[in-house]
Amino acid sequence: MPPVFDFEAAVRAAAGPGLGERLVFLHTAQDPRIADYAALSDAALRRQADPANGRYIAEGAKVIGRALAAGHRPRSFFMAPKRLAGLAEVLEAHPGVPVFVGPDEVLEAVTGFHLHRGALAAMHRPAPLELAEVLRTASRVAVLEDMVDHANLGLIFRSAAALGIDAVLLTPRSADPLYRRAVRVSMGAVFQVPWVRLESWPGDLPALSAAGFQVAAMELTDRAERIDAVAALDVPRLALVLGTEGAGVSDTVLEAVDRHVMIPMRPGMDSLNVAAAAAVVFWELRLRTP
Ligand SMILES: C[S@@+](CC[C@H](N)C(=O)[O-])C[C@H]1O[C@@H](n2cnc3c(N)ncnc32)[C@H](O)[C@@H]1O
Repeated sequence: MPPVFDFEAAVRAAAGPGLGERLVFLHTAQDPRIADYAALSDAALRRQADPANGRYIAEGAKVIGRALAAGHRPRSFFMAPKRLAGLAEVLEAHPGVPVFVGPDEVLEAVTGFHLHRGALAAMHRPAPLELAEVLRTASRVAVLEDMVDHANLGLIFRSAAALGIDAVLLTPRSADPLYRRAVRVSMGAVFQVPWVRLESWPGDLPALSAAGFQVAAMELTDRAERIDAVAALDVPRLALVLGTEGAGVSDTVLEAVDRHVMIPMRPGMDSLNVAAAAAVVFWELRLRTP
């Protein structure tokens, strides 16, 4: 009889002595040790459960690397054996953290989707930042009013990181920047740009003014000034309010802010997508004096 091929032993041997011994092989999707990864495709469930349980999921080697570089701590790793080599350095740098591996069909049955990027990490959520502390050193901040679309959120963070926005403030009803899709679309920028979830909106507006910020609502209103005219003022501390996808900036906020700013468009167009508008405004209203 030919010898039976021992898959687990082969994977452990290929991973090397230290990492090989740490691997936890999954044989069934009903393993309670992997609850962090269960039902990842159920957006409604995760939106509640992830913040409540103090966790989030990073997906793919690059994003996992960025989360760790930002100082976030992993709870566990979860991947197909063929991805071990690509993450060996990361795994070895976190010796006490479980590494779950299993065949594609078991991983898929746990998460509810095919792991295109092959590797996931369940991470501890970082401690929330204090508004006053974040505002103290910032000169450009973006306020996202009731931003519900995770792709828009991720894109705005990516532009914020690239174009010099010092912090992002999220109104209480905005989506979670650490939700899997937002993390992925941002390419990890949600770990890089400091962000604060506001406790009361528009109740937190006076805190922005008290910290020396002019507050500008981005909206196409009758009193809106052109973005290039406002850019020429080089306002030292500026908070830019971007409106929710459907209705735009709320009337209460439009009444309360210092100015309205618009990106002029060709006739016939109602508005830009909010993430596209954010990229334009972040660049144009960057602080020009050092
Ligand atoms: C899709 S728009 C909201 C809908 C928009 N109020 C309308 O009636 O078509 C979402 C947000 O993107 C920003 N935005 C989009 N186009 C803009 C423009 N041309 N100038 C300034 N802000 C814009 C605003 O902050 C707006 O609230």
